[in-house]
Amino acid sequence: MERFFASDNCSGVHPEILKAIEAVNKGHVVGYGDDIYTKKAIEQFQKEFGEDVDVFFTFLGTGANVTGISSVLNPYQAVICAESAHINEDECGAVERFSGSKLIPIETHNGKLTVELIEPHYKAIGFEHHAQPKVISITQTTELGTVYRPGEIKKITDWAHQRNLLVHMDGARIANAAVFLNIPFKAFTKDVGVDILSFGGTKNGLMYGEAVVFFNSHLAQNYKYIRKQGMQLASKMRFIAAQFDAYFKNTFWQNLAKNANEVAQYLADEIKVFPFIELTQKVESNGLFVKLPKELAEALQEEIFFYDWDESNNVYRWMCSWDTTKDDVQSMIRLIQQKAKHLQLI
Ligand SMILES: Cc1ncc(COP(=O)(O)O)c(C=O)c1O
Repeated sequence: MERFFASDNCSGVHPEILKAIEAVNKGHVVGYGDDIYTKKAIEQFQKEFGEDVDVFFTFLGTGANVTGISSVLNPYQAVICAESAHINEDECGAVERFSGSKLIPIETHNGKLTVELIEPHYKAIGFEHHAQPKVISITQTTELGTVYRPGEIKKITDWAHQRNLLVHMDGARIANAAVFLNIPFKAFTKDVGVDILSFGGTKNGLMYGEAVVFFNSHLAQNYKYIRKQGMQLASKMRFIAAQFDAYFKNTFWQNLAKNANEVAQYLADEIKVFPFIELTQKVESNGLFVKLPKELAEALQEEIFFYDWDESNNVYRWMCSWDTTKDDVQSMIRLIQQKAKHLQLI
């Protein structure tokens, strides 16, 4: 199979994005973001979020999370997050290393934090023997493909702000969430009290490039220094900027995320005929979490690559991307049929 279902970062770069990179590949411009292309890209963000936001580009999603979160923390402070959060599971302890701060991971059944889940972990405030919670980090869409509704986010931000905490959103897949919710980015970030956003692009057709967006200028004060220390300040910034400029033009991002979400839904519908495959999460974006007989998963993995998600419970992750097609889904269905027959599951 030319395309498979391992991750939305296994896909390539959308040709329009490549064209945008090519188009700015001429002459000399000043480095480190002091150029016209970066200015234009920031204006695109300001159109989405309002003129009062501060926008900084980074190379990586991990880089956006780590530098964004670290920029508002003292080392004795802590970050509350879901146990499944990328910052907790998949960033090799980078937040802890870079900020010196502790993460407080909370178990969830669907990747979403709630005030009820957070509350028991907000304790020992003012007690010098305990790290002091300062940031709550949520992921949209979650690592389990579920999507926070604006009201769910508002409950968390209200609760946080009453306690002088800040809310960070890891939006590596924010475009998939916006398409699912069918509302502007702003309606489930700035408008509901999110303070800092890691805005993703790589998983939705960019070559590389993410942005840290601050919704309160006061919080952005130290960020430029932290980004540089965090090795996320691109000297040839125009090539990240050009990608984002193209990404926002004519809501191009929307077509890409819409495709990924729709194909994921199609795959979810098509696997309904297999009684031995069970979805463990609602399909709200571009990922499926499926429980399969282990022997079937292994047989499929001999042919195509996908990740084990929860090995002890035989749960696997299938992701769709901006370029996944219905034909890819049909090839996957045929493969499942063939392997399942061979294993006498059907
Ligand atoms: C939820 C989430 N956040 C952040 C990232 C950042 O990834 P990277 O540092 O690989 O760009 C990822 C990538 O898998 C992710 O899934």
